[in-house]
Amino acid sequence: MSIFELTRDYAKQLDKDDKLAKFKERFYINEGEIYMDGNSCGLCSIDAEETLMEALKAWKKLGIGIWTKGGYFLYQDKLGEMMAPLINADSEEVTCGNSTTVNIHQCILTFYHPTPERNKIIMDDINFPSDKYAVYSDIRAKGYDPDESLKVVKSRDGENIYEDDIIEAMTDDVCLILLPAVLYRSAQLIDMERISKEAHKKGIYVGFDLCHSIGVVPHNFKQIDPDFAIWCDYKYLNGGPGAIAGLYINKKHFEMKPGLAGWQGNKKETQFNLSQEFEHAAYAGGWQIGTQPILSMAPIEGALKITNEAGIENIREKSLKITEYLMFLIDKKLVKYGFGIGNPRENSSRGGHVALTHADALRINEAFKANSIIPDFRYPNVISLAPAPLYVSYEDVYEMVERIIKIMENKEYENLVNHEELNSLVK
Ligand SMILES: Cc1ncc(COP(=O)(O)O)c(C=O)c1O
Repeated sequence: MSIFELTRDYAKQLDKDDKLAKFKERFYINEGEIYMDGNSCGLCSIDAEETLMEALKAWKKLGIGIWTKGGYFLYQDKLGEMMAPLINADSEEVTCGNSTTVNIHQCILTFYHPTPERNKIIMDDINFPSDKYAVYSDIRAKGYDPDESLKVVKSRDGENIYEDDIIEAMTDDVCLILLPAVLYRSAQLIDMERISKEAHKKGIYVGFDLCHSIGVVPHNFKQIDPDFAIWCDYKYLNGGPGAIAGLYINKKHFEMKPGLAGWQGNKKETQFNLSQEFEHAAYAGGWQIGTQPILSMAPIEGALKITNEAGIENIREKSLKITEYLMFLIDKKLVKYGFGIGNPRENSSRGGHVALTHADALRINEAFKANSIIPDFRYPNVISLAPAPLYVSYEDVYEMVERIIKIMENKEYENLVNHEELNSLVK
C-alpha cells in the first residue's frame, strides 16, 4: 500500500505529476460535478462527438453512398482493429456489433454443443444477471433443461469468485464456462489465465464478460487464450449510452459456424451476391448478424482514439493509483462514519472501481447525488465509485471525500427519501 498524504495540496501535486491529466479537457464534464459512474455510462468526449458528426455528415451528403464512398462498410473491422490492443489480440479476432447480451447469445450458441454426457455450462451466482438469463435460454434453445445443465458455482461470501471453486466444478460433464473478468459489485479481477488453462486441460471452452474491465484493465489474450469474450463499449470505453458491444473470437475457432448467422457475417467478397447459401467469413466479422448501426458506432471511434492515445497500460497504472488513493482517504477519513471497502485491495485482483459499503448506503447515495457526486448504487449496501482515469483527477477524489464528510457530519441523508420508500423503488 502506498503512503499518500491527506491534504488538498498533495492531491494537486498528484495531478501535476499525472501524465493522463491532459485528457480530462477532452470530455464534457458539468461544472462542479464529480462523475464517478464511468463504470456504468462513460462520459461524452469532444472526439466522440466529432466522429459522430462526421458519420452524420457522410449520411447527409452521401445517402446510401455512406457505405462505400463514405468508407463505412467495414467500419466494424476498423473499430475491431482499434480495440484489439486493449486485450492484446489480433485485429481479425475482434469486432463490434449488437449488444453485449446479444453477443453472449451469439457465443453460447456458437460454442455450446451439448451431448447427453456433456452438457453443463459453468457460471457464477454474482455476475450481472443478463448473462445468466441469456445462457439459461440458450440451453433451452439447444433442447436441454437449464435447471440441469446450468452449473452455478456459488460465491463463498456473496461478493467474490474463488477460482479453486470454479476449477473444482470442472467435471467431465462440463463443456463450457462463462465468467466475468471483473465483478460488477466487488470489482474483483479474477485470474482468467488460471481458469482458462485449467478449462482447456479438460477440453472445456471458456469465455469472459469484460464489461467491467475493458478500457481500464489491459488483458493479455495471447497468454490467457480464451475461446471468446464479449463486452460493452459504453462504460470505461465512453462509446455512448447503449453503444454497440465488442466481441472476440479466438482465431483457432474461425472455421466454426456462428450460432446466430446473418448476412453481415457472410464473406465480404460475396455478400452482395445475395446467395441463398451463407458463406461464413472466417474472422471475427463472421459473427456479425445484421446491418451495423453506424450512428451508434461512430462515437466509439473518437472515444477509442483517446483511449489508445493515452495507452491502456498508462490507464491501468493511473487506475490502480487513484483507486488506492481513494481507499487511503476512505480508511483515514470515512471509516469513522460507518463506511467500509468491499473490493479486494491487492492490485492483482482489483478492477477499476471502489466498492464503498455502508449499512445506510441507499439514502447516502441519494445525498451524494444531491451534492453533485454521481455514483452507482448496488443494492443493498454498495456505492460503486469509479474514478475513470481519463477524466477524474486526484483533486476530484479529494473533493468528493470532503463532500462525503460534510454529508455525514450534517446527516444530510436522513432528510432525504425514507429508506423503505427507496427500497421499494430499487426492488
Ligand atoms: C457485466 C455485464 N454483462 C452484461 C451486461 C448487459 O449489457 P447490454 O445491456 O449491453 O446487453 C451488463 C450491463 O451493464 C454488464 O454490466
